[in-house]
Amino acid sequence: MADFDFDMVIDRREVPALKHHRIVLGQDGMDLFPAGVADMDFRVAPSITEAITRRAAHGLYGYEAVPDGLMPALTNWLRVRHGWTVDPAHILRAPNVLNILAMAVNLFTAPGKGIIVQPPVFFDFADIIAENGRRMIENPLVLKDSRYQMDFDALEHAASHPDAQMIFLCNPHNPVGRVWTREELARLATICRRHDVLVVSDEIHGDITFPGHSYTPLASLSEEAARNSITCLSPAKSFNIAACCSAFTVVPDENRRRVFQAENSRLTVNKNNAFASVAMAAAYARGGSWLNAAINYIGGNLDLVRDRLAEIEGVDLIEPDGTFLIWLDFRDLGLAPDDLTTFLRQRAGWSITRGIAFGPQGAGFGRLNIACPRARLAAALDRLQIAVKGLHGTH
Ligand SMILES: Cc1ncc(COP(=O)(O)O)c(C=O)c1O
Repeated sequence: MADFDFDMVIDRREVPALKHHRIVLGQDGMDLFPAGVADMDFRVAPSITEAITRRAAHGLYGYEAVPDGLMPALTNWLRVRHGWTVDPAHILRAPNVLNILAMAVNLFTAPGKGIIVQPPVFFDFADIIAENGRRMIENPLVLKDSRYQMDFDALEHAASHPDAQMIFLCNPHNPVGRVWTREELARLATICRRHDVLVVSDEIHGDITFPGHSYTPLASLSEEAARNSITCLSPAKSFNIAACCSAFTVVPDENRRRVFQAENSRLTVNKNNAFASVAMAAAYARGGSWLNAAINYIGGNLDLVRDRLAEIEGVDLIEPDGTFLIWLDFRDLGLAPDDLTTFLRQRAGWSITRGIAFGPQGAGFGRLNIACPRARLAAALDRLQIAVKGLHGTH
């Protein structure tokens, strides 16, 4: 673990990092604690940097095939780390996860038909559904005893609607941090099969889980569950390489796979980026110990947040099972969503993702990214504590 320095503060403004950019922070927010965009402030695994550096030094970047080592590195990762044996023939490459979601919508639902989502959930789901002329069918998660659950009765009802053709599952769930259990996933898979609703499972956050929780790939549940699924995978989040990787989709059903492949060809989204290929192969083949250390460090940051929030009245942690994104409940501060954003920016110096971005159920909540050096997080929590004290003083 001593090999990796997660405490190191690196100035990300030396590159056009989105997290620090005015298009995210606003012109007036350039000095805020940037904890919205979902990537890490940690330098990546040395194996990744070495692989990219070696590839860059070669000096030739013409057309390339998929390197021989990439698919075995991915399938080995899925088998050893997650107990999921995937036939390499079932895996297709795609530019990114959002692209897979949009393609799945267009290929396997009809215009105007419904796609089920379970808000509060990753905001791009709603955008993709709307931008592709489909209808969102909401099956909100239920918050019970500070823990989010799926509402299976309501899901059965939503899935039985004649318009419902697909569900976007977020497994693990951004932003509430639930790592869905095998039992929960099996119930969902059964309901969806019963009503012929295709499960598109976005598993981009699957690698980051805390002790006591483990990620279950939906398609690993059973043959039947796999056949009625399309899974989105990417090393973007786990290995902090969102700007230099592509994504993978696992399509076990042969007919759907053929349709997907034909669309890849039709849109000619089947070229390979040399740097993405070597970065991904290095991540999956040699990045495991870095990832273990990163999860451990993020867990330490979570402990810090939990301890500090115990002293901050009116701000509660929704305990996550995994991911580096945590869901904070600010409702007891009694501020309307716009006032909460203004308060956090102006009084605490925080830029986080507004809860309502994830659906109206997120009003009064916010999503904080804790994959940053601990000292920065501690300083941000100090500022929050002072700001909240000031707010209580003025009530
Ligand atoms: C659940 C989820 N899916 C997809 C993405 C984006 O994936 P990509 O960059 O591969 O399109 C994110 C990024 O925050 C995410 O949280």
